[in-house]
Amino acid sequence: VVSQWDECFQAAVQVAQRAGQVIRKAFTEEKHVSTKTSAADLVTETDCLVEHLIISELRKQFPSHRFISEEATAAGAKCELTSSPTWVIDPIDGTCNFVHGFPNVAVSIGFAVHQELEFGVVHHCMEERLYMARRGRGAFCNTQRLCASRETDLSKALILTEIGSKRDPATLKLLLSNMEQLLLAKAHGVRVIGSSTLALCHLAAGAADAYYQFGLHCWDLAAATVIIREAGGIVMDTTGGPLNLMARRVVAAGTQKMATLIAQALQPISCGQDDQA
Ligand code: IPD
Repeated sequence: VVSQWDECFQAAVQVAQRAGQVIRKAFTEEKHVSTKTSAADLVTETDCLVEHLIISELRKQFPSHRFISEEATAAGAKCELTSSPTWVIDPIDGTCNFVHGFPNVAVSIGFAVHQELEFGVVHHCMEERLYMARRGRGAFCNTQRLCASRETDLSKALILTEIGSKRDPATLKLLLSNMEQLLLAKAHGVRVIGSSTLALCHLAAGAADAYYQFGLHCWDLAAATVIIREAGGIVMDTTGGPLNLMARRVVAAGTQKMATLIAQALQPISCGQDDQA
């Protein structure tokens, strides 16, 4: 089946791979690091270079489309999801990993039309893995079809989360208490790998049973959301309601039951909205 957005999907795959080459080359070189909203919110010249590469290439091919991206938003651009075709881009997800030479680093490119996510492409740069999904067409890692976990028992779950960049004492207390609740519920383990996007792709691949986070951004989430849904998983709001891409919070799991159990165990951490910054 040829869909209306196939050309866009192919362009995303190509540009994600080109971006991956740039990131792999820069990985072992000296980096110039600056901070953004907190001492743990980092950006390098490679984040900006790669974002420019991706957007200029896509804009050339699709001049009428809109773009939401991490570094343009940090520089003051409006983060607004309208009904127009919109690319949602994180040039380097796992910038802190990138800075330290820890190899969980990805390019994340999502695409939405009428506020509905149509496809997602996530490139694990260091392992040269390409996670991808188009709405209604399944999820893949390279050529392998992805299938999310069928686990429904919290006491058998491997759970992924991220710490995020908000580090005030009240936030950290809630963050640790949420983790504690899941460990007290006898989850098998909780893992933090330093890239929301890649953690969500591991969930899609069935390598973990659940994911949750307060404080992530739409560009960490957009592409991976399609990948998880197409792998048979659930992506929803931490309140148990439908996902709001701009709300900076998420619960994802292989099954609805697991997602609900995680959501019920969490105390909310307020982080604002991407579109009200
Ligand atoms: C961040 C990483 C980090 C997560 C943050 C994200 P960035 O993205 O995924 O692990 O904790 O919430 O914003 O800044 O590396 O693109």
